[in-house]
Amino acid sequence: MCLIEQTPRIETRRLALRSPAPGDESRLAELMADYAIARMTSRVPHPYSLADAAAFVEKVQGNDPAKDHNFVIETEDDGMVGGIGFFTPPGEPLEVGYWIGRDWWGRGFASEALQGALAWAKASWRKRYVVAGHFSDNPASGAVLCKAGFLYTGEVQLKHSLARGEEAATRMMVWLA
Ligand SMILES: CC(C)(COP(=O)(O)OP(=O)(O)OC[C@H]1O[C@@H](n2cnc3c(N)ncnc32)[C@H](O)[C@@H]1OP(=O)(O)O)[C@@H](O)C(=O)NCCC(=O)NCCS
Repeated sequence: MCLIEQTPRIETRRLALRSPAPGDESRLAELMADYAIARMTSRVPHPYSLADAAAFVEKVQGNDPAKDHNFVIETEDDGMVGGIGFFTPPGEPLEVGYWIGRDWWGRGFASEALQGALAWAKASWRKRYVVAGHFSDNPASGAVLCKAGFLYTGEVQLKHSLARGEEAATRMMVWLA
């Protein structure tokens, strides 16, 4: 039997990835209030309130560790700078999503966090297959995924974006360990 750690910690060269915990709500709400982040995701609402952050932190405490893992991304100097999460929608393959606070864009943090998270998923979580999708107007995320080894499947799905309040063309990608 393979026991899966409920709250794993991942370390990369500049970043630490740890499970969200009570106490993270206000910083989370502060960073996620940015429409530039919410509009590139399916599930992040906008506006994003402290209650949304609290609901998220509470929900992830109940994650099934066989299916879902969420991480806060931290730097030594600034604390929380972003987040990354693996989730398994019912009947669908494991998917990954992530965000970085706008003040830290362009420093390679999303790439470093994603690559560290995938290495952990392969070595410790024993996952072999991860899907991801990015909105077609988000080439930066496409670059992050390509650098981590994801390949375009050629499929473009229409996915609802809560923050946009409409569907957005989503370029689907896949990663094989
Ligand atoms: C997308 C996001 C995660 C990138 O975070 P980041 O830490 O700045 O990413 P990185 O620095 O690791 O890499 C960004 C890459 O995109 C490239 N890039 C940035 N803007 C780009 C653009 N307009 N077109 C093409 N590539 C672009 C950068 O050059 C870099 O690639 P490089 O290292 O090969 O030069 C961040 O902008 C974000 O949180 N956006 C909002 C939420 C989001 O989009 N989440 C992902 C949903 S699929």
